[in-house]
Amino acid sequence: MFRDIERVLIDRDRIAERVGEIADRLAADLRRELAAEGAGEEEHRVVFIPIMTGSIVFVSDLIRRLPMKLSMQLVTVSSYPGETMESKGAHLRGELPAALEGKHIVLVDDILDSGRTLHLVRSLVMERSPASVRTVVLLDKKARREAPIEPDYFGFDIPDEFVVGYGLDYNGYYRNLPDIGTLNPEAAIGSPSGSGGGASG
Ligand code: IMP
Ligand code: MG
Repeated sequence: MFRDIERVLIDRDRIAERVGEIADRLAADLRRELAAEGAGEEEHRVVFIPIMTGSIVFVSDLIRRLPMKLSMQLVTVSSYPGETMESKGAHLRGELPAALEGKHIVLVDDILDSGRTLHLVRSLVMERSPASVRTVVLLDKKARREAPIEPDYFGFDIPDEFVVGYGLDYNGYYRNLPDIGTLNPEAAIGSPSGSGGGASG
């Protein structure tokens, strides 16, 4: 499986270091906000919403660097493939978690690409009257943005290249690679954005 990786873009050590930095900033910001409201440590107000499935590795590392009381609710978003198999729209599968009113929400995804996924989830969450909404992504492909959204916290800016590993998949595979890298052309049967398949979230 590791033979299918053409080039490592970001290795596990850099990822771990950056995840720690994001966690520190996020924890400080959330604490400041909770303190300003006079909310006690015991008051459960922080809800993490990871977007399945790509964010599983990132969110599991991130929450273990956050020494605060928080809960998690999962959401799954499907992309509707367009003619070129690129995401031409996103829709929520299943229900949005209930009881988000007055909560401090942290939306987590692996990568911000066109931005449709995160934009959709953020819009739906905002309709539930949360106290605040923050967005966190590990990777940001700024060149590809179509929806009006920028992440509040991000790990790395990456060029417009298809990447796998650390939760990111190609046809459902490679999520378990500890590093983030590009695929050999032979492993990506056709191009990821062509007829051979692509990411499934
Ligand atoms: P967006 O809605 O276009 O921002 O797409 C975001 C989703 O597409 C992410 O949650 C990923 O699951 C997937 N995605 C986008 N780019 C890549 C990539 O390079 N590799 C793997 N998955 C990707
Ligand atoms: Mg995804």
